[in-house]
Amino acid sequence: MAVSQTQVWQSATVVEVSEIARDIKRIVFAPEFPVKAEPGSHIDLLVQIDGEDVQRSYSVVDSSEDGSRIAISVFKAPLSRGGSEFMHAVSVGDSMRITQPLQNFPLRVGAQKYVLLAGGIGVTAIANMASVLRRIKADYRLVYVGRSRDAMAYLGELAELHGDRFSAHIDDEGTSLKIPELLADVDQDTELYMCGPIRLMDAVRRTWIERELDLPNLRYETFGNSGWYDPEEFIVRVPKLNLEVLVPTDRSMLEALEDAGADMMFDCRKGECGLCEVRITEINGVIDHRDVFYSERQQRLNKKMNCCVSRAVTSPSGVRTDSASGPAVVTIEPN
Ligand code: FES
Repeated sequence: MAVSQTQVWQSATVVEVSEIARDIKRIVFAPEFPVKAEPGSHIDLLVQIDGEDVQRSYSVVDSSEDGSRIAISVFKAPLSRGGSEFMHAVSVGDSMRITQPLQNFPLRVGAQKYVLLAGGIGVTAIANMASVLRRIKADYRLVYVGRSRDAMAYLGELAELHGDRFSAHIDDEGTSLKIPELLADVDQDTELYMCGPIRLMDAVRRTWIERELDLPNLRYETFGNSGWYDPEEFIVRVPKLNLEVLVPTDRSMLEALEDAGADMMFDCRKGECGLCEVRITEINGVIDHRDVFYSERQQRLNKKMNCCVSRAVTSPSGVRTDSASGPAVVTIEPN
């Protein structure tokens, strides 16, 4: 869960940029005020979208002992909201505004056993944890899931570094992950840390609950942007504020409401803390709940949504379920 921390902004120079997998770049910063990044930490940075400074968060993949080098990796998402495109254009020598490392996905040292699960670019949040567990000689497994080998950053390095403790499941090689097998030997003394697409994490969470394992031992970091359906533009109506706003595919509902002048509450902007919750009074279409804050039951009720990540779509098949046409429409009361 998100923990509010003071953000100390500083300038940082880009000292290395390299393409490490398809559509994934590794970017290394030399920050003005170095602080070592603990596993599970991230940095916020300012990117320019349409001439405006916009804040984005990226997991720290690794950092030097003294914090003088901080590495992130950025996936250029096909449905990018502009941040990853900007990051893919930075070059060595550029100066950027970044925070010192912030922690909201801490690794608890001292568990008897660990499973680390990385899905796609989620490996950026997990790789550093695996290094630490290896260093302290913990009992751990690192499981890396991806669609195809060429799109999996750090695959070779991780396989080499973690040896028998490492396994990869690659969809287009027919070795997709089977969640029941992943959790087969997990017991109450095992902690599982995961970061990846919401479908993967949701499936793990369901099986975890079915197995009656302790929920506090299941820890996760979200991207805050991977949903059940492709994003569509939709309309949000806020009668109390006399607002009707079109939410484009590249903006969140929270951002669109902020753009329209609504004073919104939020913290994590990743679907974890619940602070941006709004009440749904009417929906023409389907809510694509993309948060990890609500239980499955709460999501099914469709009474509330976390507007920083969740969206509305016409229907799972792209076909309206009512007689109207046009984009989905959700009517809300703000928090
Ligand atoms: S701001 Fe945290 S869930 Fe939306």
